Amino acid sequence: MRIDIITCLPRLLDSPFSHSILQRAQDKGLAEVHVHDLREYAVNRKKQLDDYAYGGGAGMVMMIEPIDRCISALKAEREYDEIIYMTPDGEQLNQGICNELSLRKNIIILCGHYKGVDQRVRDTFITREISIGDYVLSGGELAAAVLSDALIRLIPGVLSDETSALTDSFQDNLLAPPVYTRPAEYNGMKVPDVLLSGHAAKIEEWRHEQAVERTKQRRPDIFKE
Ligand code: 6GU
Repeated sequence: MRIDIITCLPRLLDSPFSHSILQRAQDKGLAEVHVHDLREYAVNRKKQLDDYAYGGGAGMVMMIEPIDRCISALKAEREYDEIIYMTPDGEQLNQGICNELSLRKNIIILCGHYKGVDQRVRDTFITREISIGDYVLSGGELAAAVLSDALIRLIPGVLSDETSALTDSFQDNLLAPPVYTRPAEYNGMKVPDVLLSGHAAKIEEWRHEQAVERTKQRRPDIFKE
């Protein structure tokens, strides 16, 4: 999978992709993440990327021309399966959307800023608009990092068997059960006996019951599904 992220704040994305699983996925050649500085595609002397909104009102709007130049340059190199715009008024991200998008080969993610992008960008280039939840971030960069992480970890070979995505919360509409590690007793708090029993079937049954209970308690909305 190749992800091209378009942003006016490229440095904001340095760290999320240079550690742990996301770095390893790139080292193994399973994922490629390219961050593009929109400023390099600015057209005028001032390297301007945004301008006042027609009709007035507070906040600047990202102009179409630099975005057009950047997206067109990328599209000239390869075909893209999806051009995603990160925006709080997009479709809310969930595991199902992540599973679907993780099967794509080439995707572009455009990060919005200020009051967002000129509507004509959305009408012309964007195939999908995604939000990561009902709250507002200062820009789409952190949301793009969240989306990229959620997709890359689903690529076969990125996670080891022990961390397999198949047992994640949400994959079967259940939250994950509680987990414990050594010591077996800490300040009088004991690990449930069944987990020390070595009885695989009983452990599996206990974990499933706990997952069901947790989901009923915490997320009745997904439990109904
Ligand atoms: Cl994708 N962008 C911004 N700016 N805020 C958000 C968001 C995205 N998703 C939730 N809040």
